[in-house]
Amino acid sequence: MASATAQHPASSDSLSVEDVIFTTATPHQRILAWTLNGTAWAGAMTLDQYIRRETILSEAPLSANGGTTYLILHPRGDPETIVSSCEVTRKRALVLVGEDGDRQQQQQQQQQPPREVTAYGVASVFTNPRFRGRGMAAHMLRKVQELVDRELNAEFGVLYSDIGRRYYSRLGWKDFGTPQLRLTLSEPARDAGGSGDGSVSSPALATAAAKGSIALLREDEALALAEEDVERVRRALAESARLGAGDGRTRVAFLPDAELLRWHFARDGYACRTLAGREAAHRGARTADASAWVLWDHDLREGKLKVLRLVEDAAGSGGEGERREHVKALLRAALAEAADWGLRTVLVWSPSKAAAAAAAELWSELQPRVQVALEEREDGSVPSLRWKGDKPLDNVVWEANEYFAWC
Ligand SMILES: CC(C)(COP(=O)(O)OP(=O)(O)OC[C@H]1O[C@@H](n2cnc3c(N)ncnc32)[C@H](O)[C@@H]1OP(=O)(O)O)[C@@H](O)C(=O)NCCC(=O)NCCS
Repeated sequence: MASATAQHPASSDSLSVEDVIFTTATPHQRILAWTLNGTAWAGAMTLDQYIRRETILSEAPLSANGGTTYLILHPRGDPETIVSSCEVTRKRALVLVGEDGDRQQQQQQQQQPPREVTAYGVASVFTNPRFRGRGMAAHMLRKVQELVDRELNAEFGVLYSDIGRRYYSRLGWKDFGTPQLRLTLSEPARDAGGSGDGSVSSPALATAAAKGSIALLREDEALALAEEDVERVRRALAESARLGAGDGRTRVAFLPDAELLRWHFARDGYACRTLAGREAAHRGARTADASAWVLWDHDLREGKLKVLRLVEDAAGSGGEGERREHVKALLRAALAEAADWGLRTVLVWSPSKAAAAAAAELWSELQPRVQVALEEREDGSVPSLRWKGDKPLDNVVWEANEYFAWC
């Protein structure tokens, strides 16, 4: 039996990073990894439902055909035992370098159009509880970093830490600030618009829609806006660089393209059908003139409607007042959607000043039924970024750091 133990170090207490293999997971090993991490992440889904969701996501255009790489550690000679696992997904992004050379060179760089690059997101970092605290996740992440730098030709990567700021920063990931707008319905959500003036209720939204000021977006309509939005992010990055000309900062942004949105919609749609027995018919809302829109995700597990993307003025033509009215109408639509799904909170990551001002006005109109806070996110998803080759990151600005880029 002693030799069996030696051949299968997973069964011993002494498994160390020297005893494990880092490799791409086979389809069977993916299922083994999801079976393990489902105990932490399935939430109200059964394990089978969770594995089904992960399978569906792996077949979404963003992930299929090598878009997502599933990576694992397993003990040498024991490919059935998953020690650690994670996923790496390729994503389109923009970079505008502004930190090389003297001030004049930086200004010139910042006046160039942003360069489109491949970037990536690391997600679902997990270690089998049997093997925790032995540096396994750190070992896997170092291997992942070597792999993406060598093979993905990606300029930078991101991950969203649910375990604070310290762990990943030791591995070369720089954490970013996490401002967010939190709008909270103060009554049980389903009753929020049921009495009184109905300001945030679905009927109130229906009235606004009937008046033609807001239109709810079906999935195909939301996807049809993606191309324009990609161009908007491109322009916004260039504009930000122009305003900061000579500040020596490098600017990056992910592109909210249709593939990325489809992945979110597939994830959201599956959870809505499975947990609520309902289709997510509305993926967002837009103003009548389609110059501003909001896209959302129903996080039934956390009880939050998370704004994937808030586009305030696609044409860039509206005045400040009009812009604020648009954002207010869109936030009302998001509140109504949240109420309709029994969700008490609407979250907007990295809101602009205009969005924060619009939310404050909305609060004065709707309080005490809606509370509004501009806060630092404390409960996870700390965005963290790493440059190829562990280049230092003191001077990087992450534009459009909204929920659409999360994975
Ligand atoms: C986080 C996790 C992947 C670490 O795996 P591991 O193989 O034990 O990691 P390592 O041995 O490399 O590092 C252990 C460190 O992680 C830290 N850590 C683990 N869970 C943590 C948490 N919830 N909050 C903060 N730190 C945490 C430990 O304190 C330890 O710190 P130390 O090195 O200063 O002692 C593992 O605990 C896990 O799978 N947790 C559940 C899923 C999860 O939260 N994943 C992270 C998503 S961002």
